[in-house]
Amino acid sequence: MEFLLDTANIDDIKKYQEIIPLSGVTTNPSIIKKEGKADFFDRLAQIKKLIGDKRSLHVQVVATTTEGIVADAHAVLAKLGKDVYIKIPVNQAGLAAIKILKKENVRITATSIYTELQGFLAIAAGADYLAPYYNRMENNNIDANKVISDLNQVINHEQRNTKILAASFHTVSQITSAIANGAQAVTVAPSFIAEGLESHLITDAISDFTSDWESIFGKTTISTL
Ligand code: E4P
Repeated sequence: MEFLLDTANIDDIKKYQEIIPLSGVTTNPSIIKKEGKADFFDRLAQIKKLIGDKRSLHVQVVATTTEGIVADAHAVLAKLGKDVYIKIPVNQAGLAAIKILKKENVRITATSIYTELQGFLAIAAGADYLAPYYNRMENNNIDANKVISDLNQVINHEQRNTKILAASFHTVSQITSAIANGAQAVTVAPSFIAEGLESHLITDAISDFTSDWESIFGKTTISTL
């Protein structure tokens, strides 16, 4: 199971890579926009340095033609290194670019996936990760759990190495449902880590344990007994 952060915010990545078992970072043009007018390659290079070689960085292309997407991918790889995953939306132009780039052994995250067909074609084209858009599917009355589970079934049946990197989450329960339905990886905004780990149930339980301990031992802790 892999947990990635869906952000280009340096402070959040610094903070949460100390807290969660972080496998990587994903970005897209909208996530980059949230950071204001930061230098694109500088920011991504900073992120790559921060997370190190053992974690993956996924960078999305912006061109919309096959030639343009391939050129974007080459520019990203030249500036940031060959181990970066290139995120490519799965439409006709994108799928054609995935085929070209896979012949060059480029690592691919097929993104903007809403349907099984997009996913199946990306699997057949050799994508390393598929990014189904959980919340956006739900907003459009598409059963996100079924799409993820169908994709997972085909990956297993065909013994492919493609992994499902579910994305576009707007609630904690969407994240857990994606994993329960077969996503091998999820990419989440840092706020959902905080939300999922600091619910009142958890904080109340911890506060009760602290009060019970303090009622007997005061402020002495186990390490200072
Ligand atoms: C992944 O990197 C996706 O691009 C991202 O999770 C989309 O999220 P959104 O639907 O909240 O924009």
